[in-house]
Amino acid sequence: VKIEVEKKEFEIEDKIQTILEALIYIKENIEPNLAFRYHCKSGVCGSCSIRVNGIEKLSCVTKINSGDKIAPLNYHTKLKDLVVSSKTTLLKNLNLENKLDLESESECILCESCYSSCPVIVINSEFIGPFSLVRFYLYNNKSNLEKVQKNGIWDCTLCGNCNMVCPAGIDIKGDILKLQSISIQNGYVNPNLANFDNFNFGFNPNF
Ligand code: SF4
Ligand code: SF4
Ligand code: FES
Repeated sequence: VKIEVEKKEFEIEDKIQTILEALIYIKENIEPNLAFRYHCKSGVCGSCSIRVNGIEKLSCVTKINSGDKIAPLNYHTKLKDLVVSSKTTLLKNLNLENKLDLESESECILCESCYSSCPVIVINSEFIGPFSLVRFYLYNNKSNLEKVQKNGIWDCTLCGNCNMVCPAGIDIKGDILKLQSISIQNGYVNPNLANFDNFNFGFNPNF
């Protein structure tokens, strides 16, 4: 089996099952300096997220296929090979009051796969991003609602990429929609619609 890690090709023993096992094999037998993260090896810690053929995956629970191309997460600063810096600093202003009893959202393992899959980051690097919005929804209080108005819920295009890659099966897009609805109930306005009111059509529609 041959795989590519950061555009470099490696030959792996056929008996190897997962991407993480392959990375460990490469480190132990071919490239001792190869850098990647893992901890639990069982899909619960979230530390081993990478991209396989362009899609975010947990390396420890992803089966290997010949020709797989492995790369680090998008939109994170690359430290070395597959190791990137964390974006959990986006949660530094999270107010931890009034946690909702939401089983699914509480299972977020902060793997940051959703953030890597989100097309909005390309055009707005200040976007709070999907996993943060899940947390801001989980802790339901006025202070958090205020913090998701700018570079948050109204910038999401509702594309659903985040839902597709989330290993915890969280309906992230649904949570963002709920945050939008709660915001409207609390008197906030979608700034995109507010701007539309002022849009200059270049002609007087009354004629
Ligand atoms: S649904 Fe929103 S948050 Fe999720 S990936 Fe698409 S734009 Fe990003
Ligand atoms: S919401 Fe899902 S994809 Fe995003 S960080 Fe949490 S577990 Fe990972
Ligand atoms: S090593 Fe913990 S989720 Fe993969």
